[in-house]
Amino acid sequence: MPDIAFSALETARLRLRRFREDDLDIFRTYRSQPDTARFQSWEAPFPEAEARAFLDEMIAAHPDTPGQWFQFAIALRDDDMLVGDIALRIDGDDPGVAELGYTLDARATGKGLASEAIAAVLAYAFETRGKRLVEAWTDTRLSRSLTLLARLGFTRPSGPPRHGFYKGEWCEDINHAMTAQDWAARAG
Ligand SMILES: CC(C)(COP(=O)(O)OP(=O)(O)OC[C@H]1O[C@@H](n2cnc3c(N)ncnc32)[C@H](O)[C@@H]1OP(=O)(O)O)[C@@H](O)C(=O)NCCC(=O)NCCS
Repeated sequence: MPDIAFSALETARLRLRRFREDDLDIFRTYRSQPDTARFQSWEAPFPEAEARAFLDEMIAAHPDTPGQWFQFAIALRDDDMLVGDIALRIDGDDPGVAELGYTLDARATGKGLASEAIAAVLAYAFETRGKRLVEAWTDTRLSRSLTLLARLGFTRPSGPPRHGFYKGEWCEDINHAMTAQDWAARAG
């Protein structure tokens, strides 16, 4: 069921909030970083019209809506500056299952901020919204992402990788999963 009342999640250093229109410039800036876009679905530079359409869509969206992605804006708690986003898609057929995606402004990496933000979204998914399973797919060349998922306690189920030819390169994406039991064991 859509979480219409959602406002924000707080961590020690971050505030995960809804996107706002004044996030446009920073959002477009980090999506335009070539290394940030390399394994993602968009092209750098990220066009302004697409950035505006994305923000319009997210401003009207609510987390935990079956069949839809919701992007949490990752902002610094001190000054509310945008440093990235976390996407959570709720399965349309089984709303107990969600898929995670994440992007950090390259200028904000290397500080543990992505891990901190994702942990808050996992707590929201499992503890507040009662999800059974959260999955994430990541390219095998994205070592930072592989490290991050392992550190958070995701496991690699035995399912096959996804292969494809993307942005002129062969890609291999592997599935990672965390169950509500995994989360409870980690959190407890
Ligand atoms: C994947 C991505 C989010 C990882 O960002 P990140 O900053 O490396 O992730 P973390 O938050 O886990 O931070 C870990 C780093 O912070 C350091 N760190 C500093 N303080 C820390 C703290 N308090 N806690 C944890 N780590 C800390 C760690 O040592 C590590 O640095 P290292 O990589 O130099 O060893 C980022 O590279 C990214 O957005 N990439 C582009 C988008 C993308 O491809 N996303 C994945 C799609 S599935």
